[in-house]
Amino acid sequence: MAINTAAPLELTGKHIVLGLSGGIACYKAAELTRALVKAGATVQVVMTEAAEQFITAVTLQALSGRPVFTNQWDSRSAAGMANNMAHINLTREADAVLVAPASADFMAKLLHGRADDLLSLMCLARPLATCPLLLAPAMNREMWAHPATQRNAAQLRADGATLFGPGSGDQACGEVGDGRMLEPEELLDEVIAFFQPKALLGRRLLITAGPTFEPLDPVRGLTNLSSGKMGFAVARAAAEAGAEVTLVAGVVHLPTPRGVRRIDVRTAQQMFDAVMPLAAQNDVFVATAAVADWRPAALSDRKIKKDKNNATPMLNFVENPDILASVAHLPQPPYCVGFAAESHDILVHAREKLVRKNVPLIVANLGPATFGRDDNTLTLVDAQGHRELPRADKLTLARQLVLEVASRLNNKSDPTKLPA
Ligand code: C5P
Repeated sequence: MAINTAAPLELTGKHIVLGLSGGIACYKAAELTRALVKAGATVQVVMTEAAEQFITAVTLQALSGRPVFTNQWDSRSAAGMANNMAHINLTREADAVLVAPASADFMAKLLHGRADDLLSLMCLARPLATCPLLLAPAMNREMWAHPATQRNAAQLRADGATLFGPGSGDQACGEVGDGRMLEPEELLDEVIAFFQPKALLGRRLLITAGPTFEPLDPVRGLTNLSSGKMGFAVARAAAEAGAEVTLVAGVVHLPTPRGVRRIDVRTAQQMFDAVMPLAAQNDVFVATAAVADWRPAALSDRKIKKDKNNATPMLNFVENPDILASVAHLPQPPYCVGFAAESHDILVHAREKLVRKNVPLIVANLGPATFGRDDNTLTLVDAQGHRELPRADKLTLARQLVLEVASRLNNKSDPTKLPA
C-alpha cells in the first residue's frame, strides 16, 4: 500500500504499455490500469487471447481511455502509425512494457524469443535501449517453484528484464505460497521506484523514525507528536534509489515502504539498542526520530492512582542516550544526517547540533509546521553554509535529500560541502 507522503502524479509524462497474459490475476489489471492512469501515466493495453478469457478489452479500454490491442493482424493504426505494424509502433514511444500478469507460459515464450502473438512479438521487437521490460509473475506456487520457471526467471533477469514479486499468500486455486501477482498498489510503487535514479545502489542506509514512548506505568507514558512520515519517506526514497534500508521505527502506524527492513521499538533505549550494533555496517545513518531526551527514573508496575489527599505525583527523570551523537562518535561512523525540529531560530540551533553531535549534515525544519503534515520545507545545514529545499510533499523532499547524501558520499574529496 502506498503511504500518503506520496507525491501526486508521479508518472506524469510516462507512457506504459501494459501487457496482459492469461491468468486469474488479470482481474487485478483493471485496478492497475486505473492506478497507473491516476499517477499520471498514459497506458496502452495489449492482451493475449488467453487474457481475454479472464477480463474484457472493453473494461481495459474504458479505464485506459485507449483502444486495446489483442491481435497482430489488427489493421488499426497504433501510436499514430497506419503501417499495420502494431508490434513495432506500440513500443517506440513507450517508457516501459509492463506485463502483468506474466504467466509461466508467457515467461517461457519470452525467454526463447518466441513471437507468435502480438504481445510476445511486441516484447521481442521493442527497442532494448529505451524500453525496459517489467514482469509481474502470477501463477500457482508449484508452477513458480518449478525448476523450469526458476530457470526462466533467472535468465530473463540476465537478459535485462526486471521482475516485480511475485508475492506470497492465498492463491485462487486454494493453495498457499509464492506466486501471487503483487497487488496493484504494490506494482504502482514498484513502477514509480523503477524510474527513480539509482543514486544509492550498493549502499546501506540505517534510519530512525517516529516518536519514542517512555512508559510511566502500564497504561501511561510520555511521547510527542512526530508522525514518522518524514522518516518513512526517506526510507522509501533510499530504497527506490537502490539502497539496502533498515528502518528503526518508534510507535508509528504507517505501512513499511516496499523493500525496507523494519525494526519496531518503543523507547529511546530500545532504539539505541537496535541502532548501535547495526551502525558501523551502514554507509549512511539518518536520524529523523523525535527521541525523548529524558525518561521517567522509575517505572511503576501498577497504574499510578490518585491518593486520598489528591497529592500531585512527583516525577524524576534520567537522560536518554543520544543515538545520533553516539553513532557519530564511533571510530568509523557512517555518514550521519541529523534532523532538527525547532520552533524558532532554526539555523542557530541546527549549527549548534552540527558541532555538538559531530555530524556533517543537519536537516532543519520548524516542528509545528511539519509534525503530522504531508508537506514540509527543509533547510540543509553544514559547516560551510545552508540551502533551502522549498515546500513540497515529504516524498519529494526525501528524494532530494537522498540525492544530496549520495553526491556527498561520491564526492570523497570534500564530503561535507554543500554544492552551490
Ligand atoms: O538533541 P535534539 O533532539 O535536538 O537533536 C535532534 C537530532 O538528534 C535528530 O536527528 C534526532 O533523531 C537525534 N536524536 C537522537 N537521540 C536522542 C535525541 C536526538 O538520535 N536521544
